Amino acid sequence: MRVLGIESSCDETAAAVYDDSAGMLSNVVSSQVAVHGAYGGVVPELASREHLKSIVPVVEKALSAASTGRDAIDGIAVTAGPGLIGSLLVGLCFAKSLAFAWGKPLYGADHLEAHVYAAFLENDVPFPYIALLVSGGHTSLFRVEGWGEMTFLGGTRDDAAGEAFDKAAKMLGFPYPGGVAVDRAGREGDASRFHFPRAWLSRDSADFSFSGLKTALRVFLASPEGKAARVEDVAASFQEAVADVLVGKAIEAAERERVPRLVLAGGVSANSRLRELAAQRGSAAGIATFLPSKALCTDNAAMVAQLGERRLSAGVFSGPELSAYAASRFTR
Ligand code: KG4
Ligand code: ZN
Repeated sequence: MRVLGIESSCDETAAAVYDDSAGMLSNVVSSQVAVHGAYGGVVPELASREHLKSIVPVVEKALSAASTGRDAIDGIAVTAGPGLIGSLLVGLCFAKSLAFAWGKPLYGADHLEAHVYAAFLENDVPFPYIALLVSGGHTSLFRVEGWGEMTFLGGTRDDAAGEAFDKAAKMLGFPYPGGVAVDRAGREGDASRFHFPRAWLSRDSADFSFSGLKTALRVFLASPEGKAARVEDVAASFQEAVADVLVGKAIEAAERERVPRLVLAGGVSANSRLRELAAQRGSAAGIATFLPSKALCTDNAAMVAQLGERRLSAGVFSGPELSAYAASRFTR
């Protein structure tokens, strides 16, 4: 079965074609960085308007890059949530209309679920595994037993890891999007130069908290030591604090659950230090670590098409009542 996937939950308009035997045939992403950069973050209303402009050319490009015409498409998958409702509605209305016009089945995918299985686009990961999903809106740990079988183990009590990166970047004077800028600067810095707090919370807790770290950074930057510090060293030290907790808690969860596999997912898992630390500590603990390539960590439609193919080929599809939603059923 061959599925066209569409993703528009935040500030990326994406479309992809996934085939159950040939795999990912195309993966097109149109970023809105240039539009939101001037505001230092995503402006929801502008994001919706940009999706409207990009959706047709992006879908056309994904189909032509996959050398696939409408007749070769067996179904359409689209992100239904969670995300910015206005942005989601653009992709959703487009996908619904296309499904209706072409007479193809439609599947409304959960963005978090699509991220959690994104690693399968490159690797056949054996079940069960622990998934660390770290994105702009979520920081969660799941135990994944199979397709459609994911149990929420814990998540952030305040900011998501990506939000912490983005806010830190703003404080450090880096342009939007912040996470990549902190990563880049951090590579040139000394991660042991400054010590930022780690919120481990209670023992055995799979929950996270990043708001204290954010405040610590703000207080530090206003201090004489902070004002004199090299920005690269601050970025590296901040990044170390985030990566240390994320990897530490993910490995602990894997050990507690007796699951020898860890899969990283979501935009923050593109972070070079997080990837390095996960691989190092995973191998020291005898845990196989799966790191999807960076383009499949950040928002994309290939993961949506892949999940849709699984569901549609099993006869699970969405009706015309499919609507956008802001909160995932997979987290609390
Ligand atoms: O998964 P994603 O593309 O979109 C959401 O579903 O939220 O994740 C976006 C988040 C942003 O907060 C961005 O700053 C962060 O991922 N991010 C990174 C890196 N690349 C993207 N954070 C740290 N280091 C990176 N290299
Ligand atoms: Zn995402």
